Amino acid sequence: MDKILVLDFGGQYDLLIARRVREMHVYAEIKAYDAITVEEIAQNGYKGILFTGGPDSVYGENAPVCDSSIFSLGIPILGICYGAQLIAHLLGGTVSKAEDSREFGRTALYVEEDPLFKDVPSESVCWMSHTDYVSELPSGFINIAHTDHCPQAAFADHERTIYAVQFHPEVTHTEYGKEILKAFVLDLCHCHQDWVMEDFIETSVDQYRKELKDQKVIMALSGGVDSTVAAVLLHRAIGKNLHCVFVDHGLLRKNEGDLVEEAIQNKLGLNLIRVDAKERFLEKLKDVTDPEQKRKIIGEEFIRVFEEEANKLDDITVLAQGTIYPDVVESGKKGSALIKSHHNVGGLPERMRFNQIVEPLKDLFKDEVREVGRKLDIPAELTDRQPFPGPGLGVRVIGEITSEKLRILQDADAIFREEIKRFGQDKTASQYFAVLTDMKAVGVKGDARSYGYVLALRSVTTDDFMTAEWTRLPYDLLESVSNRIINEVNEIARVVYDITSKPPGTVEWE
Ligand code: XMP
Repeated sequence: MDKILVLDFGGQYDLLIARRVREMHVYAEIKAYDAITVEEIAQNGYKGILFTGGPDSVYGENAPVCDSSIFSLGIPILGICYGAQLIAHLLGGTVSKAEDSREFGRTALYVEEDPLFKDVPSESVCWMSHTDYVSELPSGFINIAHTDHCPQAAFADHERTIYAVQFHPEVTHTEYGKEILKAFVLDLCHCHQDWVMEDFIETSVDQYRKELKDQKVIMALSGGVDSTVAAVLLHRAIGKNLHCVFVDHGLLRKNEGDLVEEAIQNKLGLNLIRVDAKERFLEKLKDVTDPEQKRKIIGEEFIRVFEEEANKLDDITVLAQGTIYPDVVESGKKGSALIKSHHNVGGLPERMRFNQIVEPLKDLFKDEVREVGRKLDIPAELTDRQPFPGPGLGVRVIGEITSEKLRILQDADAIFREEIKRFGQDKTASQYFAVLTDMKAVGVKGDARSYGYVLALRSVTTDDFMTAEWTRLPYDLLESVSNRIINEVNEIARVVYDITSKPPGTVEWE
């Protein structure tokens, strides 16, 4: 079986790169840049190496650097973003700060004729995200692409089969990204497409059955796709020993608590304990306005509730969570910049009573999780749900969270979701919700002056949630939502639509 090494320099997209390779039915292994030696690389028989991006500058004090003898192995290499700069830097080129020409987002790309670009037209769109750029190529390299601001958007040493691209071919916004990766993996590394993704379910079930044996596991179940799939997977492995706790923290969407209880208990037959903890969460969140602090408090309180439930059930030692890969990355894995702490990962209190945490989906993307869910026969109404963050409406009520604000948001959000569905947009938008801003505005309702909240609508389209576009919702839909919300939710005076893509925005507002 041919395999590709993804050498991770701390970028946001390393698993995405590996996943693109997997999609071609070629096996890809990710290793941190300092977790494998050049000798090991030589012995492991990789057919090609991909250098990932990273948040550092090659001149940074602790910049991640690999041993430059890697270039003498004779294994084809493709460097991406930071990886491209590192290749230039280590082989004697020059990397400069792009003061006026930093590029973020969609950028026109002009490519030369080259094996790497055999299926790429001379002009297309790529995704850029960089401050530094390669100003001078190392000897032996030729330039093979440019953008309006980046003279060396790609360069190659054909003799040594070393390639470098400043842009990100792994994200979907790069129009011909898949073709570029395909050309590298299949044509330049000569990989055979003979790898079929191992049956993830079987492997995981086997692994957890052996690893957990008779241990009792408590699982945080929110009814969202991730935790549901993780729970059903673990249920297959350890059956009754899995105890699912559904914490109703009061930060759920309208009527969601009852829907979840019905689906998980009646449709899926899992062991479920529902805890009504609304008052308790509100008490802890009183007067708190800082987003990171809110997330931490919600995360900690979650664990406290689990601990209490675990204490009621004898001998629980393991905590399971539905963390998926983007949560891990965005909570700042080693070397990558902290964007915000997700409660699944970053908000765990220091003092944990559990001696093991199990996260069966931590290497998967959302759509892969859905696929696993379908293979596990989880009803489509659960696997096709839009994602919902662990801290729930806690990160969608800006400023202090009160029970009144939650009710206002729940009502408005329910209307938005109903209208999206009525207009058939639920199939195109990947995630859509309302955000209650902490701002108030003047309006006129009937003949009287009104003064109420500004509500923001957010809808994004994405296939991996690492990058996202705001959804081009029809004006008629927006108009109808706005009318209904203003008429039906008394406390709201204005409705606005968020048109920020990710990056530079995030999907959630906090
Ligand atoms: P962001 O806002 O980080 O969101 O661009 C990306 C995706 O992750 C979801 N999200 C979370 N999921 N715990 C979760 O389980 C969290 O704390 C959390 N914060 C954001 C978000 O809804 C979107 O789908």
